[in-house]
Amino acid sequence: TIRSILARRIWDSRGRPTIEVEVTNADGSVGTGLAPAGASRGTREAVELRDGGERFRGLDVQKAVRGIEREIVPALLGRDAADQAGIDAALIALDGTPNKSRLGGNALIATSLAVLHAAAAQARQPLWQYLAQGSPVQLPLPQVQIFGGGAHAGRRVDIQDFMVIATGASSFAQAMEMTAEVYRAAGEIMAGRGALAGVADEGGWWPNFSRNEEALDTLVHAIVKAGYIPGEDVAIALDIAASEFGQGGRYRLGLEDTELDTDGLCERLLQWLDRYPIVSIEDPLAEDDERGLAAFTRAAGSRVQVVGDDYLVTNADRVRAASEAGACNCVLIKPNQAGTITETKAALDAARALGYATIVSARSGETEDVAIVHLATGWNAGQLKVGSFARSERMAKWNEGIRLETRRPAPAGFAGRSVLAPRR
Ligand code: PGA
Ligand code: ZN
Repeated sequence: TIRSILARRIWDSRGRPTIEVEVTNADGSVGTGLAPAGASRGTREAVELRDGGERFRGLDVQKAVRGIEREIVPALLGRDAADQAGIDAALIALDGTPNKSRLGGNALIATSLAVLHAAAAQARQPLWQYLAQGSPVQLPLPQVQIFGGGAHAGRRVDIQDFMVIATGASSFAQAMEMTAEVYRAAGEIMAGRGALAGVADEGGWWPNFSRNEEALDTLVHAIVKAGYIPGEDVAIALDIAASEFGQGGRYRLGLEDTELDTDGLCERLLQWLDRYPIVSIEDPLAEDDERGLAAFTRAAGSRVQVVGDDYLVTNADRVRAASEAGACNCVLIKPNQAGTITETKAALDAARALGYATIVSARSGETEDVAIVHLATGWNAGQLKVGSFARSERMAKWNEGIRLETRRPAPAGFAGRSVLAPRR
């Protein structure tokens, strides 16, 4: 049973306040949960509680910490951390709002994750193994950012994530090796052009490009320079994050100073699919453009993975509605979009039941927390997205995957390219 709970303000990878919760059981075992924070958020995500006002540009979380101390702690003391569903239901009821805005999605996810960690610690198991409950699970296939753009790089380019997937890798460690070579090659190409300008929020190279296509060309060049065959050994994944530059079926491409309608953006992306070795494309249209997302999925979903992030916000009901509409064939799973572990898992289960692929994902504002690597592995999600191959809030997670692969007991191997939608 839970003996004590501590909540505190800590700092995320952008130097902004966030929340950490520590749950201690009667047997002395401890679980710690940390809240990440997005920058390109879906409008239907669980809402973060921030103080507002002047302090830290309104981003402080003192109210959220006080809410945990005054309301959540008394409600959870004495409960069994293993009762995740019961505790999450209590958190949702205590908050009492549909979007978790009263106590804050940040307060709730930190607490929910801390309870999960405490339950695994109480069971004396690593988190992934506790979650797997004895069924065989695999280490996830990583999506790794090479160039960061959009809201993560001052909108230097329109597209948010230019990523690679080591489709030729046969282990997690090998996927990391291949990614390291491509990341370095991309940096060398940028340096050679005098275009090296540091890294974006998730550690990807700052995208000093004059056209979005230039980033794609450079990415292909980097894959070749690293000694790999594009599309065979290493393929491209994109997060368009179209909600950031479009709504109401109008899309404003800042880099080209043009506006496209839904059909125009679809056409442009379909051209890219023909020209570049792209295997996954996230939020190709905006979250309010379900018709466009369905049309794009009809046109491209038999060839590539079409991922819903802002559109689906880790919500089981929205995944079911997307399936009805024929939109997307893969769901991004971000625990803090849902606000509790139970709801996160429900979204993942709904996706799986409907034949959607799943990717567990970090946020652009992260911490040293490595829980999502365990969630991706223990839930057998198949894929993992945590940002680039630099900055230790990212590397901590990739390195944790390597640890899980080499410790014993280990997961039952590595997912590999077969987890990508559509199933081939
Ligand atoms: P965010 O971006 O964490 O800034 O929302 C990540 C993503 O869009 O996948
Ligand atoms: Zn996204």
